[in-house]
Amino acid sequence: MTNEAKHQETLQVARGMHDILPERADRHVEIESAARKAFDVFRYREIRTPVLESAALFQRAIGVATDIVEKEMFTLKDRGDRVLCLRPEGTAGVVRAYIENNLAHTIAESKFFYIGPMFRAERPQKGRYREFVQIGAEFFGNARPSADAEVIALLFSLIQNAGIRELQVFINSIGCRECRVKYTQSLVEYFSGKKAELCENCTRRLEKNPLRLLDCKWDAVKFTDAPKTIDALCAACAEHYARVKSGLNAMSVPFIEQPRLVRGLDYYTRTVFEIYPSSTMGSQDALAAGGRYDNLVEQLGGAPTPAVGFAMGMERILNQLDLSASSAPAGRRGVFILPLGDAAFETTQKLLHTLRLAGVQAETGMPDQSIKSQMRFADKLGSEFCVIIGDNELKSGEYALKNLETQKQQGISKDAIVQFLQDHYSQKSS
Ligand code: HAM
Repeated sequence: MTNEAKHQETLQVARGMHDILPERADRHVEIESAARKAFDVFRYREIRTPVLESAALFQRAIGVATDIVEKEMFTLKDRGDRVLCLRPEGTAGVVRAYIENNLAHTIAESKFFYIGPMFRAERPQKGRYREFVQIGAEFFGNARPSADAEVIALLFSLIQNAGIRELQVFINSIGCRECRVKYTQSLVEYFSGKKAELCENCTRRLEKNPLRLLDCKWDAVKFTDAPKTIDALCAACAEHYARVKSGLNAMSVPFIEQPRLVRGLDYYTRTVFEIYPSSTMGSQDALAAGGRYDNLVEQLGGAPTPAVGFAMGMERILNQLDLSASSAPAGRRGVFILPLGDAAFETTQKLLHTLRLAGVQAETGMPDQSIKSQMRFADKLGSEFCVIIGDNELKSGEYALKNLETQKQQGISKDAIVQFLQDHYSQKSS
């Protein structure tokens, strides 16, 4: 490869990463704002944790024998040789921050949400990106089944509010530590007789982390008669699971029990869930997922604290909306100030700034361009009004105000225009 070719290659976005262009960014903001409103109503407060964390945090939280830690972390060393990684998910960082800042004792809130980029070196394909945005929530200190049901109900309404009405909520219980020991034994017994049929990864995992066999793409489908986690639940876990289900029924959140759902992260206990679109269009990746993790705070050095949470993937939500979009054209908005000739420039600059300070969206054109090309630009921007100011308007003190929707034009005094536009937009927004 020539030097020039090499140089050109480095100018492309990194593999699996994406630019979020303005139109898409607007949709991120819409989903984010709706989520922020819902979090406020459910009394969650925002928490922002670093994108870079020590790699050990995720190894300890997610588990060393998981796909995320084994194959998908972007790891790097800082100048002091400390091993850091780009966070592959939000829960571990929030738990670290909860412990490190002693949040259990320093603030009243125990419910947190986050919105931000996560990084996983997955093989890029539709719905699987190396950088993606999660909207997540973590609820600490409440061991009751009503907390699990509340979290699932919140997630369900977030996705519905985003515009995806038809959803399938899969739930399961994987029990506590004790249930897990019992279940793992039954899994090992079951799979030991079937070693020859296992893929390379699962053969290794049978010894290191047998639960992970259930989320193997290749093997799980072959073993639909594998033992179910719910058959290994102790009485307390079975009772918890039953009450989560009755809580969901009480809130009219529909769900489907999925006895082989175990999730790809090791920190879960008891309730786990994943939400998919009902339609079979597009990929079959989960839109969102989560569960209870009653041991994680203690495992990372904090006091024993029950917790439950979820994360939903922004890109997967938007991809799903694209599939069902009827894409209504956005309405016209804002004002375009059209200066005709250099003499008008100072007046138009002043009006432009006054309107912006008054909260009216405004843009201007180039005074040396023709009225026709400036009008074309105003139209392209989707402006609602155009204010034309040239020599005649400067002299008379009456500006030409054109409604680009109706194409009607009227004269308006220079002293009345700001108030008129301000009133128009405050009425529109109320
Ligand atoms: P997760 O299932 O690994 O769980 O990810 C949650 C969601 O993030 C997925 O359902 C999906 O929407 C999105 N997601 C994951 N990987 C990708 C990817 N490569 N590209 C696009 N979107 C992706 C967690 O991360 C847990 N921390 C959830 C949780 C919070 N559990 C308890 N609290």
